[in-house]
Amino acid sequence: MVCIRQATAEDLIQIQATNLWCLPENYQLKYYFYHMLAWPQLLHVAEDHKGKIVGYVLSKMEEEDEQGSNDKDKKPFVPHGHITSLSVLRTHRKCGIATQLMKQAHLRMQESFGAQYCSLHVRYSNMAAYHLYSQTLGYIIHEVDKGYYADGEDAYNMRCYFNKEKSNNDNGENNKHENNIDNDNVSDLTNNISNMNV
Ligand SMILES: CC(C)(COP(=O)(O)OP(=O)(O)OC[C@H]1O[C@@H](n2cnc3c(N)ncnc32)[C@H](O)[C@@H]1OP(=O)(O)O)[C@@H](O)C(=O)NCCC(=O)NCCS
Repeated sequence: MVCIRQATAEDLIQIQATNLWCLPENYQLKYYFYHMLAWPQLLHVAEDHKGKIVGYVLSKMEEEDEQGSNDKDKKPFVPHGHITSLSVLRTHRKCGIATQLMKQAHLRMQESFGAQYCSLHVRYSNMAAYHLYSQTLGYIIHEVDKGYYADGEDAYNMRCYFNKEKSNNDNGENNKHENNIDNDNVSDLTNNISNMNV
């Protein structure tokens, strides 16, 4: 039995350990603290019945100047979240844990910060994560960031729009996905999430 809940400061060491087990992109503990202090609603863990952290999602809200546009062709800022890191221990994969962590992050970034979409990067070769994002959660490829990772691998820069209309207006060319999540569905799906067992 695994429950999904908002992380506390006591979880950060275990979150860091899980990250070290699962991913080559690792962070100093202060980076986790920074997330927790800035956006406590956006850090969630999956905890087993013994209190062991078996998965986490670390997400944040993007700041205005992180959008990358210069003054000349600057578009109006759209509040949006970003998935910094997600992983689930091998022993607990393919049970729906990552899906539920991601849905909870989506819900909280909309409710607490008015996010209109969520972005993330995923390795070109990471088929498991790509399936999760594109097929299960409705992310679409926004662009390809060449050589994004330290070892030179390309990244898909992906987005999940929470509102179809916004998706079409914001960037029609890149947003042809028809399976976007809308706010009502996310709320319905996650209303019971604090009590869920996966
Ligand atoms: C990617 C990862 C987070 C998925 O976690 P998970 O808890 O196993 O995912 P879920 O059980 O929620 O599965 C979600 C979907 O992805 C699919 N999936 C999961 N692992 C898969 C795999 N190895 N190959 C193909 N599809 C896979 C599931 O079948 C499910 O699809 P469905 O909704 O169509 O049934 C996990 O494999 C992981 O931690 N990997 C290492 C870290 C990582 O890559 N993080 C992402 C960085 S961008």
